[in-house]
Amino acid sequence: MKKLMAANWKMFKTWEEARQTARELVVAVGSSLPGDREVLLIPPFTALRGVVEMLAGEDGYFLGGQNFYPEVQGAFTGEISPDQLLDAGCTYALVGHSERRHVLGEKDDFLARKVVFGLEKGLKIILCIGEKIEERKEGRIQEVLTRQLEMGLEKTDKDVPAMDLVVAYEPVWAIGTGETAELEDISHAHGFIRSRLKEMLSQGDQVRILYGGSVKPDNCQSIIGLDNVDGVLVGGASLKADSFSQIVLA
Ligand code: 13P
Repeated sequence: MKKLMAANWKMFKTWEEARQTARELVVAVGSSLPGDREVLLIPPFTALRGVVEMLAGEDGYFLGGQNFYPEVQGAFTGEISPDQLLDAGCTYALVGHSERRHVLGEKDDFLARKVVFGLEKGLKIILCIGEKIEERKEGRIQEVLTRQLEMGLEKTDKDVPAMDLVVAYEPVWAIGTGETAELEDISHAHGFIRSRLKEMLSQGDQVRILYGGSVKPDNCQSIIGLDNVDGVLVGGASLKADSFSQIVLA
């Protein structure tokens, strides 16, 4: 199983800034990208086409969208469709990132529609899950993860190919705070997610599970070495080619 090293640039970077970072990253990683790693860049929509040009001809690099709306086309002002993401060069798309859930109010049943629709359209889907700090304090991590997984995948065929689906565990309190979860906590959560995926999906043992939340060059290696951690989803530390290249090669 190849490790997926993903950069979520959120609402950062102009077209030219995104192209420059992608170009610098490809140069910094050079020919040292191990064959068992994939790099995924998830820039804002306006930079998708510019970034994909920088990745042309580079093995192991992919482009992803941060979000989409689960309809073919129509009067959905401000939204983007899976076909438009594919047309811009995307292979992957995020669904249910913590900021979509908690800042923009997206609910599990709506996310379930996105997962199944995006898959049908040919995108590989990264379903993001994770508990809030109060849920953690109340000892409800497993309950929250179970609900987000079961509801998020409710409409998805249990025989979905493992390579089409990725789950990203991002504890909300660790996102953008500099506070990474302890290795033991990451290990427990990923082991739990793995066991649920195995129960829910016929190829659940091979679905990649990424960790996200204040991943940095100095903590990436120990995180990526844990069982059931099949990659990382990085925000802040992915914005500069220098730090993200260290993460990619950790
Ligand atoms: P940070 O790496 O900035 O904590 O962000 C994590 C994240 O939300 C990636 O999707």
